[in-house]
Amino acid sequence: AATAYNTLTGEAPVVVAHRGASGYLPEETLGGYELAMKMGADYIEPDVQMTADGQLVAMHDSTLTRTTNVADLFAARDGSYKVSDFTLEEIKSLTVKPTGALSAPDSTYAGFTPSMADPYKVPTLSEVLDLLTEYNTANGTEIGIYPESKTPYNSPQNQAIVATLKDKGYDEPSDKVILQSFVRESIIEMGEALIDQGVSASLAQLGGVRLVDGVYGVSGSDGFFSLAEIADIADGVGVSAGGITEEFITSAHDLGLIVHAYTFRPLSEEAAFAMIQPMLDWGLDGFFTDYTDFSRTVVDAN
Ligand code: G3P
Ligand code: CA
Repeated sequence: AATAYNTLTGEAPVVVAHRGASGYLPEETLGGYELAMKMGADYIEPDVQMTADGQLVAMHDSTLTRTTNVADLFAARDGSYKVSDFTLEEIKSLTVKPTGALSAPDSTYAGFTPSMADPYKVPTLSEVLDLLTEYNTANGTEIGIYPESKTPYNSPQNQAIVATLKDKGYDEPSDKVILQSFVRESIIEMGEALIDQGVSASLAQLGGVRLVDGVYGVSGSDGFFSLAEIADIADGVGVSAGGITEEFITSAHDLGLIVHAYTFRPLSEEAAFAMIQPMLDWGLDGFFTDYTDFSRTVVDAN
C-alpha cells in the first residue's frame, strides 16, 4: 500500500533529541532530556564516556571543560580535565552550563519546571535510562534512546553500554534502542556483546557521506567503509547532513540500511522547514536535532 513517507519502513521519520534539548538547556542533562521528551522527541541521544572509576556518563566531549564548571571547582588539577581522569563522584559535583544558541544564561526555559532535583548535573547512562522509563510510563509514550559510544575505541566502554542495557531489562526485540559510533570496531564489538548478553538494540555507523570509485559509503573515525560493508554489521547510518543526496539515501535503502542525518540546528520553525523538508522528500528516515520543537512541527506536517 502507498504510504505517506519515503522512509525505508514507510513509518514517519524519527526526531532524535541531539544531546537532549541542547538548543535551550544544558546538554546531556536529565532536565534537558525531559524537556526534549515534552517537545515530542522520538528518541533522546546521550553520548557516552567512561569515568576514571569505570562509570558511564552522558557527555559529548572527552573533556569536561566546554560544558561544565570544572575549571572553577578543580583549578588545582592539571588543565586537560579529561572525563577519564575524574571519578563519578567528582563529576557529580559539577554543574552543566547552557551552551545552546537559544539557551537562557540561568538554565531556564519558559513554562518548563524539571521534575527532578538537580536537573543540570552530569547523569549516568543508567539515570538517563531510568528517566526515559519513568517518562514513558507516566505519559504512555514509547520514546527510545540512541546512545553513542564516543571515540576513541574503548572496549570496556562498549561492553559496559550493553551491560547497562541488560541491567535495565532491554532484552525484548524492539526498535527503541539504537547504538551508534563513529568507530566501526566499536559497532562490531557492541553487536557481539548484544548477542552474548541477550540484549536487543539496533546499530548505526556514524560518519560523513563519501562516494569512492562510484560506491557510496561512510567515512567514520577509522576510515571509509562502503554501504555494503556497513550493512554487514549495522542496521543504519548516521551521516553528516551536508553530504546527503537522494542517491545516497536510495543506495542505503536498497541495502536495507536506514539513514539518519546529523545535526539540524534550526533557530525557527521556518528555518526547520527549509533545512529538513528537502531530505524528508528524499526519504530520510530520521535526524538528530538540537531543536526538537521546530523539527517535530516539520515531521508532523508531512
Ligand atoms: O551521533 C550523531 C551526532 O551526534 C554526531 O555528532 O559530535 O554531536 O556526537 P556529535
Ligand atoms: Ca552524538
